[in-house]
Amino acid sequence: MRKTIAAGNWKMNLDFDEGRQLFHALTKLGHDDKATEVILAPPAPYLSLLGYTNTSSVHFAAQNCHHEDAGAYTGEWSARMLASLNIKHCIVGHSERRAQYGETNKQIAQKTQQCYAHGIRPILCCGETLAEREAGDHFNIVTEQINAVLKTIEAKQIRTLIIAYEPVWAIGTGVTASAAQAQEMHSFIRKSIASSYDRELAEQVHILYGGSVKPDNAKELFSLPDVDGGLVGGASLDYESFKGIIEAAI
Ligand code: 13P
Repeated sequence: MRKTIAAGNWKMNLDFDEGRQLFHALTKLGHDDKATEVILAPPAPYLSLLGYTNTSSVHFAAQNCHHEDAGAYTGEWSARMLASLNIKHCIVGHSERRAQYGETNKQIAQKTQQCYAHGIRPILCCGETLAEREAGDHFNIVTEQINAVLKTIEAKQIRTLIIAYEPVWAIGTGVTASAAQAQEMHSFIRKSIASSYDRELAEQVHILYGGSVKPDNAKELFSLPDVDGGLVGGASLDYESFKGIIEAAI
């Protein structure tokens, strides 16, 4: 039985006090960590201050890590460093990183390997642009993005992989994929993993939906058979709205 995951990606938003208050308020919700996992991905400078002593039921993710272990990469941080801060999750391959920083599938595969090498659970993002969907290419694009990573990791690592399907056209636009579109892609991803590996393994992979998740659409999305929760941007920045999303995940 897969847990439902409510993950908030703060992106480059909230100052430290705002973030700390939001985190503390969310820890008081007292959700059952065995059934629902709540993860926050704050900006990197806050991770050491929020994350290091974090023993609460709200877990932390980094929004990114470098694809190398260490070196002369000014402004970057590695999975090894995240592990030394006791960070257990890391988003890799977000579409904003792919589009704005030119991250390639190869680098994203290396980042995923770095995460596994340091005991961090990757949240691998995938998703097509509107033009790709309109051209009927969405299944191919997502397959390519996921396979570039899967072929570089071991089957036993795939069991703990979290995939986030985030159609680019739904991110920050207020346009959410319909329940049918989300289920169709999630089921496609799970079936592809089942056919490359096996059904039992595919059943263990978490597949989150991301793209304009809000309290009023979260329940419908999270109740779909292959949607195991959400990766939430804008609606994770406000206590009431993220609370509503966590409640939809319970
Ligand atoms: P929004 O929820 O703001 O659409 O962002 C989704 C996202 O990119 C999460 O990683």
